[in-house]
Amino acid sequence: MQKSVIYITRKIPRTLVEPYEDTYEFRMWDKADEPVPRDVLVTEAKNADGLLCLLSEKIDADFLDQVPNLKIVANMAVGFDNIDVNEAKKRGIVVTNTPDVLTETTADLTFALLMATARRITEASDYIKQDQWNHWSPFMLAGSDIHHKTIGIVGMGRIGEAVARRAKGFGMKVKYYNRSRKPNAEQELDATYLAFDELLETADFVVSLVPLTAESKQIFNKEAFEKMKRSAIFINASRGGVVDEAALIQALENKEITAAGLDVFEKEPISADHPLMKLENAVCLPHIGSASTATREDMISLCFKNIAAVLTGDEPLTPVN
Ligand code: NAP
Ligand code: GLV
Repeated sequence: MQKSVIYITRKIPRTLVEPYEDTYEFRMWDKADEPVPRDVLVTEAKNADGLLCLLSEKIDADFLDQVPNLKIVANMAVGFDNIDVNEAKKRGIVVTNTPDVLTETTADLTFALLMATARRITEASDYIKQDQWNHWSPFMLAGSDIHHKTIGIVGMGRIGEAVARRAKGFGMKVKYYNRSRKPNAEQELDATYLAFDELLETADFVVSLVPLTAESKQIFNKEAFEKMKRSAIFINASRGGVVDEAALIQALENKEITAAGLDVFEKEPISADHPLMKLENAVCLPHIGSASTATREDMISLCFKNIAAVLTGDEPLTPVN
């Protein structure tokens, strides 16, 4: 019998594919650090039954029109704003993501970014490397305290709650804004629900963990930054599209807010000559929220489990449509 074909859009370790090789034929883009060109992706996906793709691949109606055999798109990410889920559904294509397996790793990074931004850690490290440390002085690289401050989490989902747990360990007060109330988080984490504007006005740290959707697009705009305290630190670990970047740059340049820690950007990858990279009060990371080796392996493994389930006629483990 002919094996079903699975196309993987980036080179991944063969060991992750091996357990499935007797059952499926795997085809893979052969570069680990370069995205597959669109025309190659379309050609390969035309013959594929399953697709394992990354958040950088745009899976839209135009693409879906060209891949008649495809039964499942397994996105190696929990966010799925790169996929037109409704168009996939219309064509009977299952879409899956990778929730839960990356929650704690992403929360670790989000909190690390918050700490690095508040305590100016990357700047301090550069200070020595650039040979600027000539004296110890009272306010050299003085930053903002974290302990006992108020964290305002926008998007109190799996990762939001995991960040709140870390914040509790630092004695922080936890406030949140979410589409729906979270009674468990309110009870277990003593988290207080606030309207969006009230959260912006009162939080010392405003942390975005809200998925990018039509409703959340650019919710952090000029008005939002104006509402934040001048001492506020903004952390974005969800998607660049929830921020109006021009407004953020203006707020940082004019010191309307104190600093920002960003793991995600409107357009990725962002280049070194982007205005955000010129700002001392912006700590920027290349979208590494879930980037521990173990978690990345778990994400790939979950993609395969979803693909195998769908191709054998079972329910996927983590469907989004
Ligand atoms: P999740 O469990 O689905 O949590 C998302 C939360 O946001 C839910 O509580 C949801 O509310 C709420 N929400 C959705 N739309 C909203 C809106 N318009 N206004 C207010 N609240 C809204 O997802 P997760 O696993 O925590 O992941 C969250 C996001 O983090 C992902 O979508 C992704 O963009 C990002 N992420 C980034 C990285 C990284 O590398 N930086 C890694 C992983 C994830 P309901 O409960 O009402 O649905
Ligand atoms: C990463 O950004 C994800 O959504 O998993």
